[in-house]
Amino acid sequence: MSKTLNVNYEGKHCYNIEIRPDFNDFLSCFESLDFGGNKICIVTDSNVGPLYEAKLRKILSGANESIFVTSYTIKAGEESKNLDIINKIYEHLIKNHFDRSDMLIALGGGVIGDMTGFTAATYLRGIDFIQVPTSLLSQVDSSIGGKTGVDFNKYKNMVGAFYMPRLVYINLEVIKTLPYEQLTSGMGEVIKHGLIKDNEYYAWLKENSNQVKALDYDSLEHMIYVSCRIKRDVVERDPKEKGERALLNFGHTIGHAIEKCADFSLYHGHCVGVGSIAAAYLSSKYGKLSSNDYEDIIQTFKLYDIPVSALDKSMIDKVYETSLSDKKKKGNRIKFILLNSIGDAYIEINLGKEQIVEGIEKVLK
Ligand SMILES: NC(=O)c1ccc[n+]([C@@H]2O[C@H](COP(=O)([O-])OP(=O)(O)OC[C@H]3O[C@@H](n4cnc5c(N)ncnc54)[C@H](O)[C@@H]3O)[C@@H](O)[C@H]2O)c1
Repeated sequence: MSKTLNVNYEGKHCYNIEIRPDFNDFLSCFESLDFGGNKICIVTDSNVGPLYEAKLRKILSGANESIFVTSYTIKAGEESKNLDIINKIYEHLIKNHFDRSDMLIALGGGVIGDMTGFTAATYLRGIDFIQVPTSLLSQVDSSIGGKTGVDFNKYKNMVGAFYMPRLVYINLEVIKTLPYEQLTSGMGEVIKHGLIKDNEYYAWLKENSNQVKALDYDSLEHMIYVSCRIKRDVVERDPKEKGERALLNFGHTIGHAIEKCADFSLYHGHCVGVGSIAAAYLSSKYGKLSSNDYEDIIQTFKLYDIPVSALDKSMIDKVYETSLSDKKKKGNRIKFILLNSIGDAYIEINLGKEQIVEGIEKVLK
């Protein structure tokens, strides 16, 4: 009923990922950090705060009673992920006299995790923070590996920093209040883990879709543990995305472009799913992936109610132009992540405009 993963950074232990059925172990995990400050700010959003902030505060009240706990709640959604809101969090911390020994807790999905991490990285040149990820996507992906940041003028994650949390505490119970579309959005990233690194895990995901969708505890625990382990292994080997970490961007170049062209009205993980189908198509047409595996990947995304197409064909030029502004470039070439086979991804920099457009066209309605 509980699992722990150690995460190393530059060869040394850096933080633990604790996977639990509830918040009961949060206090002991927190106390193991030897917190030397006396103020904590829980940063959360307008959906998650009302559900879980009071619980977390109550638990923290069991720690040293001289600890002052405050919170800052932002409006839920990607629109809040910008520097204006970061300024407001800084103001809240300054008003409450936070100093370098104090701490932030990110209680929410990937938006909250990325923003709280960025605030922690930059406030007073860096204070500690804990990730308490509450969406599936943040539990298996965004809370691990220290990428923090905000969007800038609609460019996704354009401003940010690599900054490691002190702890990632995953309470599986909170998944029960996650809207179904957010669950399937997270599944886009989960299936990606199988596709890029582990064909057995991909097969397990296909076989266990009913249990996962029904939120069966053992299935969820196994899935989240394996996904966290895959992400952990990649970020340990390549913390700053100099090489292998780029594989985690499978589906993201076209996915981000679709997300942006749809004005962020679609779910992030669904856009990654659509981008993954495009990348799988390019892998079968121009790489080594078999056409059977390409068809199988489409069926697996459908099994989890993840859309396999988006927008419409009139958007093709806009999606292509937008994909060029993606950060994942080497010189003038876009770094595309393709599959040799299911479970084996590689970086391809030799795709030309015609090929990329063909991949995009395949996933536009
Ligand atoms: N740092 C990284 O490595 C990394 C990796 C992948 C994605 N991301 C970022 O993560 C963000 C997407 O994350 P997300 O999908 O979690 O989005 P999100 O934070 O917007 O959360 C999705 C929605 O679910 C709600 N929610 C979250 N947990 C809930 C719960 N337990 N119960 C009820 N509602 C809940 C939120 O309020 C929000 O409305 C994007 O900004 C993306 O860029 C970062």
